[in-house]
Amino acid sequence: MWIAGGWSDYELLECSGGERLERWGGYTLVRPDPQVIWDTPRRHGGWRKPDARYERSASGGGRWLPNSLPDRWTVGHGDLRFHVGLTGFKHTGLFPEQSPNWRFIRDAIKDSARAVNVLNLFAYTGAASIAAAASGNAKVTHVDAAKGMVRWARDNAALTRGNAALFADDAIRWIVDDCEGFVARERRRGKRYDALILDPPSFGRGPDGKTWRLEDGLYRLLTLCACVLSEKPLFVLLNTYTTGLSAGVMAHMLECVFGPAFANKAEARELGIPITAGGVLSGGASARIYN
Ligand SMILES: C[S@@+](CC[C@H](N)C(=O)[O-])C[C@H]1O[C@@H](n2cnc3c(N)ncnc32)[C@H](O)[C@@H]1O
Repeated sequence: MWIAGGWSDYELLECSGGERLERWGGYTLVRPDPQVIWDTPRRHGGWRKPDARYERSASGGGRWLPNSLPDRWTVGHGDLRFHVGLTGFKHTGLFPEQSPNWRFIRDAIKDSARAVNVLNLFAYTGAASIAAAASGNAKVTHVDAAKGMVRWARDNAALTRGNAALFADDAIRWIVDDCEGFVARERRRGKRYDALILDPPSFGRGPDGKTWRLEDGLYRLLTLCACVLSEKPLFVLLNTYTTGLSAGVMAHMLECVFGPAFANKAEARELGIPITAGGVLSGGASARIYN
């Protein structure tokens, strides 16, 4: 398992009865997590009066109660900075278990000691794009279908640059587009990338409303991505939270599609977050293939 580390602004305090108790900066949140299928005693006092709790509604969805927190606040991971907030869904705009991927991305690019073109697909609020840019030698293309997410990612990049001059303002190119359509156009334009990052959701929609389902679309998308890989590729990193898609299957897919371009075998593991009360909470998995 790749286990999240380097956090002082985030802490998974305890998990029980389908929920997590977390500290995000100065605020404690309680929110659902379907992985938490145990019902151990809730010892931490924070359960009784969290700053916000996400309550599921019987009709699907849910809401944060009470919602008197600021619209957004800041958390740091090393020299990176992110805005977090309570989203309409149960998320906060950041996935702390991704920190080992940020480390891998940043180190791999920095250690290559060359200019690296990075394509980040389904790029969400930009943590992976910012980690890549923070290497100091990357040109990053950040693609997401949601305008609001791209705005949030740009704000995160500006926040990080305000904290440390790790990369230039133009180190990240911001694209609002459907990932598959964008990659197909980049292929026609002859654009090539040395590093690919993909975090496809189980289900999503492009700007034109076209649906994306991981089981139907992932192999086709990876095959398309292989057409935009440069002649000297550095890595491909695939992450998913799709239940039922094992780390082994992800590694095999990377090898099927990208194997000939890489000297190393693909490596894949679950991701985990240490729980302060003891143990590790797993959720999501990543696969990497690199030279
Ligand atoms: C990073 S993924 C998954 C996030 C998180 N790992 C999860 O499971 O909830 C979510 C992102 O993909 C984007 N997205 C979904 N479908 C897309 C598509 N067809 N093209 C581009 N971006 C898409 C969404 O806007 C969102 O920012």
